[in-house]
Amino acid sequence: MSEMASPDPEGVDGVRMTWNVWPRTKVESSKCVIPLAATVALIRPHPDIPRLQYAPLRCKTCSSALNPFARVDFTAKIWICPFCYQRNHFPPHYHAISETNFPGELYPHYTTVEYILPLSNSLNPSPVFLFLLDTCLIEEEIQFLKSALRRAIGLLPDNALVGFVSFGTQVQVHELGFSDMSKVYVFRGSKEIPADQVLDQLGLSTAGRRPHKAPVGIAGPGAGGLPGSGITRFLLPASECEYTLNALLDELQTDQWPVPPGRRPARCTGVALSVAAGLLSACTPGTGARIIALVGGPCTEGPGAIVSKDLSDPVRSHKDLDKDAAPYFKKAVKFYEGLAKQLVSQGHVLDIFASALDQVGVAEIKVAVERTGGLVVLAESFGHSVFKDSFKRVFEDGEQSLGLCFNGTLEINCSKEIKIQGVIGPCTSLEKKGPSVADTVIGEGNTTAWKMCGLDKSTCLTVMFDLSSSERTNTPGAVNPQLYLQFLTSYQDPSGQSVLRVTTVTRRWVDSTVSSEELVQGFDQETAAVVMARFASLKMESEETFDATRWLDRFLIRLCSKFGDYRKDDPSSFTLNPSFSLFPQFMFNLRRSQFVQVFNNSPDETAYFRMLLNRENISNAAVMIQPSLIAYSFNSLPAPALLDVASIAADRILLLDSYFSVVIFHGMTIAQWRNLGYQNQPEHQAFAQLLRAPHDDSQMIIRERFPVPRLVVCDQHGSQARFLLAKLNPSATYNNAHEMSAGSDVIFTDDVSLQVFFEHLQRLAVQS
Ligand SMILES: *[C@@H]1O[C@H](CO)[C@@H](O)[C@H](O)[C@H]1NC(C)=O
Ligand SMILES: *[C@@H]1O[C@H](CO)[C@@H](O)[C@H](O)[C@H]1NC(C)=O
Ligand SMILES: *[C@@H]1O[C@H](CO)[C@@H](O)[C@H](O)[C@H]1NC(C)=O
Ligand SMILES: *[C@@H]1O[C@H](CO)[C@@H](O)[C@H](O)[C@H]1NC(C)=O
Ligand SMILES: [Zn+2]
Repeated sequence: MSEMASPDPEGVDGVRMTWNVWPRTKVESSKCVIPLAATVALIRPHPDIPRLQYAPLRCKTCSSALNPFARVDFTAKIWICPFCYQRNHFPPHYHAISETNFPGELYPHYTTVEYILPLSNSLNPSPVFLFLLDTCLIEEEIQFLKSALRRAIGLLPDNALVGFVSFGTQVQVHELGFSDMSKVYVFRGSKEIPADQVLDQLGLSTAGRRPHKAPVGIAGPGAGGLPGSGITRFLLPASECEYTLNALLDELQTDQWPVPPGRRPARCTGVALSVAAGLLSACTPGTGARIIALVGGPCTEGPGAIVSKDLSDPVRSHKDLDKDAAPYFKKAVKFYEGLAKQLVSQGHVLDIFASALDQVGVAEIKVAVERTGGLVVLAESFGHSVFKDSFKRVFEDGEQSLGLCFNGTLEINCSKEIKIQGVIGPCTSLEKKGPSVADTVIGEGNTTAWKMCGLDKSTCLTVMFDLSSSERTNTPGAVNPQLYLQFLTSYQDPSGQSVLRVTTVTRRWVDSTVSSEELVQGFDQETAAVVMARFASLKMESEETFDATRWLDRFLIRLCSKFGDYRKDDPSSFTLNPSFSLFPQFMFNLRRSQFVQVFNNSPDETAYFRMLLNRENISNAAVMIQPSLIAYSFNSLPAPALLDVASIAADRILLLDSYFSVVIFHGMTIAQWRNLGYQNQPEHQAFAQLLRAPHDDSQMIIRERFPVPRLVVCDQHGSQARFLLAKLNPSATYNNAHEMSAGSDVIFTDDVSLQVFFEHLQRLAVQS
């Protein structure tokens, strides 16, 4: 019954839960240690999801959508809502309904259906791509950037609307509808500019006060809609502006303002983003519009600055943040929170492509990306494949497409015993109160509805639940053995089609005071590990003195005390049911991961890792916490290997997937043979094949993934080998190196090994 055994654990519904059987009461659920949570891959495509060409029936009391769990009385033409038990009459157009003839949404296995809603014809489905280009770059980087953009423009659908803003010390809004000569509106970078002032200066103000700013030949300011309004001067169909854009890119130079020695360039990323958002405010709210910001360094000018212009003043580190010695941080975050609010109210998305050796301020801008459901990619250079290949994916069509959707709303309905604490992931609360809102808030809470300006095929949110402390006692008598959750996601798909996806899931309640057996069987270790990682990351960001390692340890010890089998005070008697047996190792790796050991990375990197942890599906998020390792050797098929330094051998190749990087690691002997060119000799075909296999497999991983991971190819004892060693259990350290077999490796670390960790855990779990 283990969820993990199934090849597609998310199934048609895209829903996974920490517990697949729920304890009945709040008290019992707190004894389960791991919180009740569901992860929902909101719009993950699946061939078995029907698309229905009509609108759903809604319960007249709770407005949940008709679903297979409704009790239907075919004679009386009535359905009973599983959420609120309201009896609803079928409307006249359902009159033909019978036991043998019923609509798709009632088929027992159609627990997820998609309703295709008619387009309101006042809306323009053309997606808008507003490129925002940093020009404070060295010549080489700007050339990389230009070629990436040229490629992107060539891939855009013809009906896409394209806009172009560049920035450095100042902001330049390019008027693309003015092809004979390039026309540019310049904004100062040192001061915040409110949206209405941006519109005013661009001649887009709805008040119609400033027609003289509009260039000759173009009618006065537009009415704020699309198309036909003044904004068409700035947003042109891709099919019409390729020439203009290419000409513009040809002319585009690096920022011309002099940079004195010892100084950083004046880069006004904050103002540039708010000018871009201001420009888009002239579009109809909810238009599928995204700002694609390409940033090559830190903001140093105007609001949103993260560091001074003085190069001797380094960009804030985790230590600085910890010691409250990052004077720009809070102010910048506040500025980007304001930007996030503006973008969410407009329904527009912010994507950040940051490419620089130093930090650019992803940690500060994160809030605006995450609240709008934007994409984020962090690379070292615009010439690096992590940037180049990821950027290309954004514009690709067909199989490779990311399936970028817009204007999403998620609503959740649940059985009345269940309360929603909040959502962790890329969304914003719509502040819609309801009976199922919990008192305690986790993430985006205090609501039953959330906005996702942008979402895509892989967007996966975590919903944290609680149980009502009163509900059970208030409703004696008929106790339903099943609980129900309904996720209603409405969005605009890439073709501009309006879709409402309804997923209704049910799970069983269990009286865990009577039987914990069933409860145990329903535990999903992989999901639990990911939820704990997301929860811990959230707390690390929001609670100042939070100690993640101790917090995780306490959870794990309590879990093992509760669900382990042992005699009190006898650590050697301790065993764990298979439903839990992988969980301690997940926690061991989580404690060592980039999510908890943040001091090994920059705040930008941490922000980046966490944004992806929070939005990816469970399998991908699990690999971020506990990488997968595959061993390749002669005379055996590639096989999973223990994430342990003992897996290293001179005649083996290892392939490590830690999500953000993919490492191919050659054992010493393999590396020697390769250096001698054995793979090129006809009698060593098998060796050539052995060398090739991990490369082919790594390419398969890289092709599927967004952002594209960094590929590291290295040899045992080489400097790049640290990318592998950092992820391995240090079962062999310099302290016990004498016990090691020949050819394996030793990790220089004082970290505890998995074995030592387990011993401690067993001792603490059995303590009376
Ligand atoms: C955006 O979504 C909202 C809520 O679902 C809907 O009312 C509105 O019409 C949508 N707007 C567009 C432009 O699709
Ligand atoms: C179902 O969701 C709607 C919309 O968020 C809300 O108004 C209603 O109260 C919810 N009902 C239940 C039973 O949760
Ligand atoms: C939830 O919303 C209510 C009403 O808007 C507000 O008074 C309360 O402080 C909010 N609670 C939290 C925890 O944010
Ligand atoms: C998770 O996402 C990856 C793409 O990044 C996909 O290949 C994989 O099938 C997904 N897993 C599930 C269970 O949906
Ligand atoms: Zn109802």
